[in-house]
Amino acid sequence: MEFVKSLGADEVLDYKTPDGAALRSPSGKKYDVVIRGTNGIPWSTFEPNLSENGKVIDLTPGAGTMMTFALKKLTFSKKKILPLFLVPKGENLEYLVKLVKEGKLKTVVDSKYPLSNAEEAWAKSIDGHATGKIIVEL
Ligand SMILES: NC(=O)c1ccc[n+]([C@@H]2O[C@H](COP(=O)([O-])OP(=O)(O)OC[C@H]3O[C@@H](n4cnc5c(N)ncnc54)[C@H](OP(=O)(O)O)[C@@H]3O)[C@@H](O)[C@H]2O)c1
Repeated sequence: MEFVKSLGADEVLDYKTPDGAALRSPSGKKYDVVIRGTNGIPWSTFEPNLSENGKVIDLTPGAGTMMTFALKKLTFSKKKILPLFLVPKGENLEYLVKLVKEGKLKTVVDSKYPLSNAEEAWAKSIDGHATGKIIVEL
């Protein structure tokens, strides 16, 4: 939690505690945007924690997300879940590199592996608990 604060977060939740699993903000705030980077958290957990026009951007969209997305669209709901299928464009990556150079974006490397050890890198990745990016060096 200290590490996440050091990246600039004002509040950090521990998903292994009941309040954290319920996504309750310690200060009682509602969220305008949630970026969902892990699956297994249902819409019913997000919904009460979102502000009136709150959105969940889902980086791990599955069938449940697609159904909720369609339902919220059909019912003109202000609270929404939006699946994101990212195909990085050169200009967007250049923008990110610029932010890194300016010190506005901090990047974190969990571990590096040679290509000959890619299997171990993959195992670490699918374990789902890397702290930062896993690099395979060519
Ligand atoms: N849609 C797209 O275009 C796109 C692009 C990039 C990535 N993705 C997807 O986005 C997801 C996140 O990417 P990533 O590289 O950050 O993945 P990752 O390396 O698997 O994320 C690991 C992090 O997630 C935390 N975590 C694991 N389970 C959690 C839970 N139930 N609640 C809260 N945090 C949890 C871990 O914390 P602890 O170590 O404390 O458990 C660790 O910090 C992946 O599923 C990836 O496939 C999608």
